Amino acid sequence: PQYRIAVVVGSLRRESLNAKLAAAMTRLAPPEFGFGRVEIGDLPLYNQDDDANPAPSVVRMKGEIAAAQGVLFVTPEYNRSVPGVLKNALDHASRPYGRSVWAGKPAGVMGISPGAVGTATAQQHLRNILAYLDMPTLGQPEVFLQFKEGLFDADGSIGEASRGFLQGWMDRYVAFVKRQSA
Ligand code: FNR
Repeated sequence: PQYRIAVVVGSLRRESLNAKLAAAMTRLAPPEFGFGRVEIGDLPLYNQDDDANPAPSVVRMKGEIAAAQGVLFVTPEYNRSVPGVLKNALDHASRPYGRSVWAGKPAGVMGISPGAVGTATAQQHLRNILAYLDMPTLGQPEVFLQFKEGLFDADGSIGEASRGFLQGWMDRYVAFVKRQSA
């Protein structure tokens, strides 16, 4: 595909709702876009002492972000913020100083929770971090999803009730990435 989007999921859980959402969103993308999930569960805890000698998982992850034309963050909310595993990945790929791979990559942000707040507070914290990392981030539409039966259909695609809304998000994000890449 002409445009590769690195998908970063903020949950390592096997049955993660956010991982399911990320996979379902991928199916709404047009053919010139390829969405691929980036593994962050194998990264060590960030330690500045290792900047000169990063673990292979860190080198791989940074390479995947660097090669992408955009980044989609799909994250749960933990204690009203982003999970530590996501912050760890953000920190890793922002270093060594001056060699961040995030800068300039157009970002999309979304999340799902069993709770009614729908990850809104985590997303606000994440948007602050992305602003500092110099990532242009799609502002609208915001996607705060509360899990409901039928959100995903039997084959894991977005169910009928939310498909129009989430296809609309995808169309806006695709146009945003193309504008940023032009
Ligand atoms: C949660 N959960 C949660 N939910 C929420 O809406 N706001 C919150 O602040 C929190 N805080 C929180 C902290 C911790 C440590 C855990 C483990 C969970 C519940 C969370 O939304 C729920 O477990 C989701 O299913 C997690 O997302 P995944 O793993 O399904 O993608």
